Amino acid sequence: MSKQPEQELIDIRAGRDLSVLDLISVDPLTDDDITLIFDIARKFRDFETHKFDLNKNRSMVNVFFENSTRTMSSFDLAGKNLSMDTTSISSSSSVKKGESYIDTAQTLDSYNVKALIVRTSESGASEMIARHVKAAVLNAGDGWHEHPTQALLDALTILDHYDVTDMKDKIVTIVGDIRHSRVFGSMVRLFNKLGATIRVAAPQTLLPMHADKFGVEIFYDVEDALKDAHVVYALRVQEERGSNGYIPTLREYSKMYGITRKRLDLANDKALLMHPGPVRRDVDVHSALVTMDEQSHILRQVENGMAVRKSLLWLLCNRNDGKTKDAVKL
Ligand code: CP
Repeated sequence: MSKQPEQELIDIRAGRDLSVLDLISVDPLTDDDITLIFDIARKFRDFETHKFDLNKNRSMVNVFFENSTRTMSSFDLAGKNLSMDTTSISSSSSVKKGESYIDTAQTLDSYNVKALIVRTSESGASEMIARHVKAAVLNAGDGWHEHPTQALLDALTILDHYDVTDMKDKIVTIVGDIRHSRVFGSMVRLFNKLGATIRVAAPQTLLPMHADKFGVEIFYDVEDALKDAHVVYALRVQEERGSNGYIPTLREYSKMYGITRKRLDLANDKALLMHPGPVRRDVDVHSALVTMDEQSHILRQVENGMAVRKSLLWLLCNRNDGKTKDAVKL
């Protein structure tokens, strides 16, 4: 008789737990943590249409102080797929009325929820909230700092495409608004752990200060950066963070840095075209490449996002070791 999907997940997990109680940054994740997250995510992906009861009687809140399409819907659907009770706060009404992030988070924590999924425009807010609540905090993007689940789903997409366990012989070229990108913040940390060669291509004004300290190779000519790359990763020019003030015009930016068919052809034959979304068609990437081109993995990234978030919600909300957090009260 074949095993139930739940039992297959439990068998794959084999009593393992993450070394962290929150996911604020990819920095503290160990090699074992990364392996565990991906082992479980792949197994969830195998049972895409099955509804699991692994997190039954547990609840979570999406606390989104900044807009989101992919991350919020993905966490919400992932929680529901695990039979969690989920609710979402997508406007910061309490904060607009003068309440602090910490008071808002502690209010939600009083429901004994197992997870708060937090997105803010300010760097560091998720970490601050995590210290003050008992629930596991999963950083869904904090300002310019990090977006750890995005980097994890991106790494899973790349490893599975090349059927490898690390990125030691892989060149990842990241093109675009590096300066304002929390996706870059998590990607550079995680991909360096996985051994990738990371190239960045951007106008000097869209690079962070001291970009040379990040363990990346810097290119100002996108075509040089794309040569033989295994991954072409485009980032959006983030107008909401003032990026337009760092480039002459979007048209000129696109002409110099936008990913076109001709530019993609400079990369390795099997190269993946990736983007965290939302894509600005014909600015970051030529429209014809976004979803229709066989090298585009942009929608595959979204699919893998669900699997990675299910994995994290199960691991962080349902620990075998019984570890809990102490919440600091203000
Ligand atoms: N990639 C990403 O974070 O997209 P959303 O802003 O739609 O969540």
